[in-house]
Amino acid sequence: MSGLPFDLSEYRSRQQGFLSSMPQNSLVIIPNNPKSVRSNDTHYRYRANSYMLYLCGWGEPESIFTAQFSGGKWTTSLFVRPRDTNSEIWEGRRVGPEGAVEGWPVDESFPIGDVEEHLSKALESGLRPSIITGLNPAVDNIVSECEMSEIQDPRKVLDTMRTIKSESEIELMQQAADIASLAHVKAMEGTFPSVGEWQIQAIIEGHFIDSKSQWSYPSIVGGGDNATILHYSSNSETVEDGDLVLVDAGCEVHGYASDITRTWPVSGKFTEAQKEIYNLVLEAELAGIDACRAGSPWRSMHEASSAVLAKGLVQLGILDCTVSEALGKNLDGPFRNYFMHGTGHLLGLDVHDVGGGRKGDKKPGPVLRPGMVVTVEPGLYFASWRDDVEIPERYAGIGIRIEDDVLITEDGPVVLSSRCPKSVDEIEAIVGKSG
Ligand code: GLY
Ligand code: MN
Ligand code: MN
Repeated sequence: MSGLPFDLSEYRSRQQGFLSSMPQNSLVIIPNNPKSVRSNDTHYRYRANSYMLYLCGWGEPESIFTAQFSGGKWTTSLFVRPRDTNSEIWEGRRVGPEGAVEGWPVDESFPIGDVEEHLSKALESGLRPSIITGLNPAVDNIVSECEMSEIQDPRKVLDTMRTIKSESEIELMQQAADIASLAHVKAMEGTFPSVGEWQIQAIIEGHFIDSKSQWSYPSIVGGGDNATILHYSSNSETVEDGDLVLVDAGCEVHGYASDITRTWPVSGKFTEAQKEIYNLVLEAELAGIDACRAGSPWRSMHEASSAVLAKGLVQLGILDCTVSEALGKNLDGPFRNYFMHGTGHLLGLDVHDVGGGRKGDKKPGPVLRPGMVVTVEPGLYFASWRDDVEIPERYAGIGIRIEDDVLITEDGPVVLSSRCPKSVDEIEAIVGKSG
């Protein structure tokens, strides 16, 4: 049994869509991710490459997916670890080439040891390599040593395909969002003054494991000023009475990610100053979600959230200028002193999914289309230790982000993470409930 999350026909139609866009003299080569050493002979838990998962669902390391056109059709192949009793006793069962061709959506399968000869022959016959480089040095060498090879990158086609999720991909993403939503609720319930950030992490990740899932990125649990550090992940301090804790944590189901952030007071009650910033971020988030409309430019959600934040910062007296000055000509005004990151990104097999739209990309992000899943995640951060910008005393030490996962449909945005509460009243009713 392959345990694949999709029917073989779904993978076959992805392969067909992909290969029909490739020149017929291509030799497609998609190596799986390498194993990563943690220390000495201990490895990090293996995670297959997302392109491999997308095209054929193969999850074992030391494997390569290839496709080449001959006899009037494309042939897809998997090169995999051969069956080997001794290795399987130590490291776990292997599917092997015979099992791969029976249960996975490929036409042929061979032992991984055959791959160099196979690729060299194909390249000598004049095929052009279309390869994801940087994953398998031996294969990269074969390709670069082939004199006539002008190397193509298959991701150009695959990235665009991956931006639109099928019904069955959305089902898995809904499961990932549901698991992460409940994890956040449990973490809110289990929060109390002086709680360790690691204790909240344990509740969150305990729920992921209990749900047969795992984190899709290292959980961020930051109390007080730590909430203002965007990629804080040491989760090693306690959160004191009166402080907020920001939790950015998501999980994956068959590789498909959720990515949720909530911020709550460890005492169970927001202070007035915290509530002012919280409700401003929430208003910006709701405006960003409302802008997630099919046909809208990528920037729509960032523009919508930014407009709310800039206006609010002026109204609260944090910025002493007009709203349009606060926003700046290119959304680069002083409101960015307190909101430094993008409003969202595509979500899928990678938490920062392929297909564009990341802050700093050269090209603008894609137009929003039905089937895309994006995050909407505005925030405001007033690190008390900053001296490069003015941090008002009233708000010092407040970091708030609210992040949901949103499916674009013809009928408007659908919030996949809607089971995760986010109004002040809802949060205050939950925090500390299990204490
Ligand atoms: N958790 C990473 C992000 O929100 O983009
Ligand atoms: Mn995110
Ligand atoms: Mn996040």
